[in-house]
Amino acid sequence: MKTINLGKTGLKIPAVALGCMRITELDRSEVPSYLYHTLELGIDFFDHADIYGGGECERIFAEGLSKLDIPRESIILQSKCGIVPGKMYDLSYKYIIDSVDGILRRLNTEYLDILLLHRPDALVEPEEVAKAFDDLHKNGKVRYFGVSNHRPLQIELLKKYVSQEICIDQMQLSLPFSSMISEGLEANMQTEGAVDRSGSILDYCRVNDMTMQVWSPFQGKNGTFIDDNDTYPDLNWRLGELAAKYHTSKTAIAAAWIMRHPANIQIVAGTMNRQRLSDIAKAADIRLTREEWYSLYLSADHILP
Ligand SMILES: NC(=O)c1ccc[n+]([C@@H]2O[C@H](COP(=O)([O-])OP(=O)(O)OC[C@H]3O[C@@H](n4cnc5c(N)ncnc54)[C@H](OP(=O)(O)O)[C@@H]3O)[C@@H](O)[C@H]2O)c1
Repeated sequence: MKTINLGKTGLKIPAVALGCMRITELDRSEVPSYLYHTLELGIDFFDHADIYGGGECERIFAEGLSKLDIPRESIILQSKCGIVPGKMYDLSYKYIIDSVDGILRRLNTEYLDILLLHRPDALVEPEEVAKAFDDLHKNGKVRYFGVSNHRPLQIELLKKYVSQEICIDQMQLSLPFSSMISEGLEANMQTEGAVDRSGSILDYCRVNDMTMQVWSPFQGKNGTFIDDNDTYPDLNWRLGELAAKYHTSKTAIAAAWIMRHPANIQIVAGTMNRQRLSDIAKAADIRLTREEWYSLYLSADHILP
């Protein structure tokens, strides 16, 4: 499995992570073997959040992992906090500290490798975030910190107070859902793709040596876009053509499209299907040509001005 740098930390991470938001879709008895399969593919990075399945996802994962004889330090555990479901966002000191304690309990571990702030909180007091990060780091509960769904200036605000490196931003990106790319390509145009939705977050991550992690890499307007020939006929035709050329699946080509970007993006794949996960893992070795990359982008209904 191709590895990439985790920000400036010096830690190497796999180009593909397993997102555990949908792990409840597996039968409990299947979880250990699915995690074993994941590790066999070289995917030793697991993404969680305190809210996934109301905490059930972290619990089921930990129960499954405990059946494998895996040293804790051989895997990378990431989780997120800050969403109070249906109510509000909360990045206050107490909320972050209590959330991490809950996460550690459910994951049955003494430390998280990475904690992400799940979404920006309009009422955030960055001094409180800084104090929470200091305490979590000092107490050995969290090694590294990052954010999710944050714009560059929101990260800058945190960085003014936080002493640890903010090494990740986790954002949504897929072939159809790629405004962080179109807003750059259509800069200053009067077109839909020119709308600044992310604040040029991809360039910001490159400038600051942050890792861009992407969620829902295979989701379009109505669930997955793979094989959705009604909504994405051109994209599926082109994916099929390249899948034949590279002797792989459309899913792998869609993953290779993300990994071809020079920002060294990490894919957070949410599939609970063994074959699909194998295809995505192998996609790390496919290097699409420049022409192929752009033709996929255009077939996903984007434009070049
Ligand atoms: N930071 C955030 O705000 C945020 C938000 C959402 C998610 N996340 C993270 O991102 C991870 C991935 O999100 P996601 O699950 O929405 O992403 P995804 O990998 O794009 O979607 C996976 C889902 O698509 C289905 N699918 C159907 N056909 C597929 C195909 N050909 N290839 C791939 N998947 C196909 C999968 O079903 P099968 O299982 O049957 O393959 C599964 O239900 C989550 O687990 C979570 O860790 C973060």
